[in-house]
Amino acid sequence: MEFKIDDGPFSAGTASALDEFPELLGYEDARNHLWNSVESEVMLGVDSLNQPVTVDLASDTPHVMVSAASGAGKSVIAASMATQVLVKGGEVVFLDVKRISHRWAKNLPGVHYAVEIHDIANALVSVAAEVKRRMRIIDDYPGDIKDAPVGPRIVIIAEELNSMMEELGEFEKTLPRRGVYKPSRAFGDIMNLGRAAKVHMIGFGQYVDAKVIPKRWQESFGYKLMLRHSVSTWNMLAWNVGYCPPAPQQPGRGFTVMGDRAVQTQFLYISEEQCADLVRSAYDARERMGLIAKPPSRRQRREQERELKELERSS
Ligand SMILES: Nc1ncnc2c1ncn2[C@@H]1O[C@H](COP(=O)(O)OP(=O)(O)O)[C@@H](O)[C@H]1O
Ligand SMILES: [Mg+2]
Repeated sequence: MEFKIDDGPFSAGTASALDEFPELLGYEDARNHLWNSVESEVMLGVDSLNQPVTVDLASDTPHVMVSAASGAGKSVIAASMATQVLVKGGEVVFLDVKRISHRWAKNLPGVHYAVEIHDIANALVSVAAEVKRRMRIIDDYPGDIKDAPVGPRIVIIAEELNSMMEELGEFEKTLPRRGVYKPSRAFGDIMNLGRAAKVHMIGFGQYVDAKVIPKRWQESFGYKLMLRHSVSTWNMLAWNVGYCPPAPQQPGRGFTVMGDRAVQTQFLYISEEQCADLVRSAYDARERMGLIAKPPSRRQRREQERELKELERSS
C-alpha cells in the first residue's frame, strides 16, 4: 500500500475545496465584471466560489450599512463603491466628520465633500430637497417609474455614522424648534424613499448603536456588510440570519448580509490612486463623447428651493 501524504489536495499552498478565496482581490482580478455590469450594480467582492458579490441599487431597500472594526476595511469599501458609481456617471456626496477619510476623492468630478457639521447638515437637507423634487417627477411620469428622468444616481457615503449622528444632534439643539427642516429628518426622509429616486445612503461605522440609528432606519438598509464583527453587532444587524458565524480574520474578508442570507466575501481592494485615475479617465472619455451632464439648471435649483421651503413649512 502506498499513501501520498505530503502531496495531496490539502497540501500547504493548495486551496482546499472549502476556501477558494483569493488572498487579495485587486482591480485587475475584478475589472471584467466591474465594467460589464449594469449601471445599478456595484461589485463588492467575490464569494467562496469566486463569483461576484454585488449590491443592486435598483432593489427595494437600496441602502447599505457597513459595520467593521477600526482598520478592517471600511474606507477601502467606500472607495471601491464610490469609484464604481462615479465611473458610471453618478454623483457621490461624502459626509466625513473625520475630515481626512477620502482625500483621494476631493476635487474629482461628480464628488461633493462635506466635513464641517453645518456643511453636512446642508448636504443632507439639500439632497432631501432633491429627493422630493425627484419624487414629483416620478409621480408625473406616465411610463415605468424606473425610467423616470430623475437625473444621475446619487450615493451618499456617510463615514462614522455614530459620531455624525451625535454631532448632528448637538447641532440641532442650536436650531429653532419650529420652521426649520432638521438634518436628522432629512436623513430619515432619504432612507425612506423609493428606489426610483436613485438616491442611496451608504453608512459606515465601527458598530451601530440602536440609540443613534433608530431600528426603523436600520431596516431600510437592505445590505449589511460586516468585517471582523462581534457577536453583539451580528445579532443587532443580522439577527434574521439566525446564527453568528465566527469572524474571518484575513484582510478584507467579511460577510455580505442580504435579508436572511449571509455570504462570506473577499472585498475588492483598489488603491486610492487607481480609484482617482479611473474616475478621471471615465470623466475624460464622457467629455470627449459629449456625454457630460450639464450642471443643475436654474429651473432645477428653483424647484429644489421650493421643496426645501415646503419642508420647512411642515416642520
Ligand atoms: N479588501 C481588502 N483587501 C486587502 N486588504 C485590505 C482590504 N481592506 C482593507 N485592507 C487593509 O487594511 C487597511 C485598513 O483599511 P481601511 O479601509 O482604512 O480600514 P477602516 O476604514 O475600517 O479603518 C488597508 O490599508 C489595507 O492594508
Ligand atoms: Mg476608515
